[in-house]
Amino acid sequence: MLRPEIVDYYRQGGERDRLATGAGRLEFLRTWDVLARVLPAPPATVLDVGGATGVYAEPLARAGYRVRLVDPVPEHVAEAASRPGVTATMGDARALPAADRSADAVLLLGPLYHLLERADRVAVWREAARVVRPGGVVVGATISRFASLFDGFVKDYFSDARFRPLVDRVLVDGVHHNADASRTWFTSAYFHHPDELAGEVTQAGLVVRRRVAVEGPLWMTGPRLTEILASRELTALLLEMLRGVEDEPSLLGVSSHLLTVAGHR
Ligand SMILES: C[S@@+](CC[C@H](N)C(=O)[O-])C[C@H]1O[C@@H](n2cnc3c(N)ncnc32)[C@H](O)[C@@H]1O
Repeated sequence: MLRPEIVDYYRQGGERDRLATGAGRLEFLRTWDVLARVLPAPPATVLDVGGATGVYAEPLARAGYRVRLVDPVPEHVAEAASRPGVTATMGDARALPAADRSADAVLLLGPLYHLLERADRVAVWREAARVVRPGGVVVGATISRFASLFDGFVKDYFSDARFRPLVDRVLVDGVHHNADASRTWFTSAYFHHPDELAGEVTQAGLVVRRRVAVEGPLWMTGPRLTEILASRELTALLLEMLRGVEDEPSLLGVSSHLLTVAGHR
């Protein structure tokens, strides 16, 4: 069972446009840039777990991949299923509705940061290990332990006294417990310390091939980021430069999102 506040949060429809502008746009462009280099060539089969409304699934289908999306939010699944080339079904990352070794790639761009218990996150990696073919790839997105601290200053969340205790707790154990959907500070989530990722993956029987900083610190640059993304040349430069430092371990904690690329031994 998914925590009710997580389902309520996503039923508000925020995922439709989240990646369209600003830091979300940077997250999309960088994630796409990494996927383009680590996924097997089309027409490989991609299982997009936690794929929401199909924001990655549709362009993957357009690129020639066979894409199946799994998500626990009915509105997400309905919208994803309406996209050309995308098959979408309801499901949970801990018990995937997919056969053993049926995918060339499994994307976990969402479930890992919404499961507060370590055993659940290991179960997600284990399911991905079951479903991905030998030689295939699993890509998992996580959110940095320090993201809410930085976001609190970028978006002035600290001006509400109720925000500070959430950050204090995250810094201790990674749990962002926000069960009140009326507040704008995301929903309940787990924010990983970069150093704990490998343990979850290896316990599930996979090996980590790479840990990639998605945005580095540039998601915090606000209006300047909007200016950069409005320029084709500056966006190309930004992507080129971030690609060059994406494996730098010291950037992992300042990046909002991290991608872990894993596979079978
Ligand atoms: C922030 S959205 C990310 C959507 C998209 N993959 C992306 O990267 O932009 C997180 C997604 O994870 C899904 N999710 C949360 N818990 C999940 C679980 N246990 N199993 C599968 N999906 C889950 C949510 O429904 C939501 O669509």
